[in-house]
Amino acid sequence: MRFGSLNLKSNLFLSPLAGYTNLPFRLTLREVGGLDLATTDLVNARSLLEKNPKAFKLIETCPADRPLAVQLFGSVPEEMRDAAVRLEAMGISSVDINMGCPVRKVCKVGGGSAMMTELGRTAALVKGMTGAVKIPVTAKMRLGWDDENLTAPDLARALEDAGVAAIFIHGRTREQGFGGVVKLAGIRAVVQAVKTIPVIGNGDVTTPEAAKMMFAETGCAGVSIGRGAFYNPWIFAHTRHFLATGERLPEPVFAERVRVLCRHLDLMVEVFGEEHGCRMFRKVAPWYAKRFGPANEFNKRIVRLSSKAEFREILENYLHWRKQFLDDAGQLKANYQPPPMVASFMQPPGAAQREQIPVPRGPVEVW
Ligand SMILES: Cc1cc2nc3c(=O)[nH]c(=O)nc-3n(C[C@H](O)[C@H](O)[C@H](O)COP(=O)(O)O)c2cc1C
Repeated sequence: MRFGSLNLKSNLFLSPLAGYTNLPFRLTLREVGGLDLATTDLVNARSLLEKNPKAFKLIETCPADRPLAVQLFGSVPEEMRDAAVRLEAMGISSVDINMGCPVRKVCKVGGGSAMMTELGRTAALVKGMTGAVKIPVTAKMRLGWDDENLTAPDLARALEDAGVAAIFIHGRTREQGFGGVVKLAGIRAVVQAVKTIPVIGNGDVTTPEAAKMMFAETGCAGVSIGRGAFYNPWIFAHTRHFLATGERLPEPVFAERVRVLCRHLDLMVEVFGEEHGCRMFRKVAPWYAKRFGPANEFNKRIVRLSSKAEFREILENYLHWRKQFLDDAGQLKANYQPPPMVASFMQPPGAAQREQIPVPRGPVEVW
């Protein structure tokens, strides 16, 4: 598929997850396969122009991390334009504009979801950006502010006219936060509103079946996956295979999950240094562990991780402890298997509230 001048090898995308979609995570996912265009965490356009070191760390990349989109937020048209120009000069493949951020500090300056309520002003800001760069400019939004203000179809149409190359749409309103069910009909309305640009559906896709259903029910050209990739870095490769052949590949075996976990930590240490990388990994590792079966012994120690040597010790100790849950063939006994993942929009009515994907705790809690 194409985003403007950019040719993409996969119609599956990594959603931006502030605090998580850093270079090590993106490289881990790329190595597992099935992913082409990945996105950074959101980056403040002004901080980028001011060469703020934290903003630069957010866009750190390498040749293996291509194609890469940087997600910008901000409400000053000149800053957004100049940041896009700078990113293009740095060799970034595309620029995504954050229009769906429900965090107060983003909305109060007119960025994020607030953009969705001011169509004309937003279109002018976007036009300034699309006119200044050759790389594709895309926009990521929610369905609208609330159920009474489902502005996404109108906004998508206006942004298409302003030159955006694709729309990413999370099928929830700002008011919904991360609760309730992703509305496929809302995504479909955006698909139907635009003339030619691809619309990428997003929200709660945790299985190949959920991706297939999102494609089928909305007519979207691609699917973007965020939290599902935490649980399951194989989701992109497995979904591509499933969409192409109808065959569901088996879940990765435990040893493979551990291998990728270790690789992810190695990359964290390479990019952030041992101490900081290990500290950041404290909130990453428990996501892998959610698919390990019983993992208390792992989780309670990993939250204090500070070195690779300590990680090896925690892992060895955990592998030993986990043996009590295995059968004679070394497989997790049936009653300890983690339950299958089911997307909110594939749950029987009433069950979605209980089963929604948790939003990670920490400074990004309010997403
Ligand atoms: C921890 C966290 C951080 C997020 N950070 C961003 C962000 O920086 N920019 C953005 O547009 N969306 C952000 N989102 C929203 C996701 O990109 C995505 O739209 C949402 O999680 C729904 O998709 P999912 O169910 O596949 O995760 C974030 C979500 C979470 C849970």
